[in-house]
Amino acid sequence: MLSRAAVQAGPGFWMPAQGSTGAVAVDRIFWLVLWVSVFFFVLIVSLMVIFVVRYRRRAGREESEPSPRHNTPLEITWTAIPIMIVIVIFVWGFKEFLNINTPPVNAYEVQVTGQKWKWLFTYPNGHVDEDLHVPVHTPIQLVMTSEDVIHGFYIPAFRLKRDVVPGRYVKIWFQAVQTGEYQIYCTQYCGTGHSDMWAKVVVHEPGGFEKWMAEAGNFMKTMPPAQAGERLYRTLGCAQCHTVTGEASTGPTWKGLFGSRVPLEGGRALTADENYLRTCILDPTQNVPLGFQPVMPTFKGRVNDPEITAIIEYIKTLK
Ligand code: CUA
Repeated sequence: MLSRAAVQAGPGFWMPAQGSTGAVAVDRIFWLVLWVSVFFFVLIVSLMVIFVVRYRRRAGREESEPSPRHNTPLEITWTAIPIMIVIVIFVWGFKEFLNINTPPVNAYEVQVTGQKWKWLFTYPNGHVDEDLHVPVHTPIQLVMTSEDVIHGFYIPAFRLKRDVVPGRYVKIWFQAVQTGEYQIYCTQYCGTGHSDMWAKVVVHEPGGFEKWMAEAGNFMKTMPPAQAGERLYRTLGCAQCHTVTGEASTGPTWKGLFGSRVPLEGGRALTADENYLRTCILDPTQNVPLGFQPVMPTFKGRVNDPEITAIIEYIKTLK
């Protein structure tokens, strides 16, 4: 379907790399529109300059010269040609627009969630990752939504951009044409962390994606507990309310939390040990720290014991 020559190897001077079939299609239309515009810009501006110089007022030519008021063939020409050009642009553009918005039925589906301030990618087997991993030459369908505010999902190398809003799903799809890593951005100003809201698309060679998935889906067994806990912190959504830098957010910061004395609503105080943290995760309203609202949802049924241990081990490292 695609000739090899049509695929640019890397980013050029003007454009990012053409990483997907859609990128090639979008670029062709872009260049058509650009060159048609350049042609008419040069034509019209040159004629303007020539006419200004040629018909300027000078000695012996004070009055404007008589000129024809109407020229039917000329007017038909300069109406018909632009109409045909814009029809070509419209038909071609609309065809590609429909193509970009119609995922093939056999597409591999990945759920995309935008949240302050990260992208999360959920695979069919339940694995959640912060980067989008895909196999090359395979149609990938993204079913996207947002947890909080409007975010803009943008992969320049794939010429793919769509806003996500809370409470509804949007679908886009792409097919990567070469392996490599490409940048994902957020293009809607979504708060203080907006400029940090980026991720990568990692396009794997044939077989590499399955290998990656087998390893990544097994990180609880392969990573040290504290490292696995940090990963869970980011993928379970803890990071939305708990910082690791010392500032309080919706919930208390995790920095220096372990072993500290936590004053609770109601005048009690508890030491933040393993059992305290475990209770906070499974039954968050039981011990609400002083100055915070009881808004944390329970993670009962969402995390298992090894995962709770991993999260606690991670909190221990945040001194
Ligand atoms: Cu999300 Cu900007």
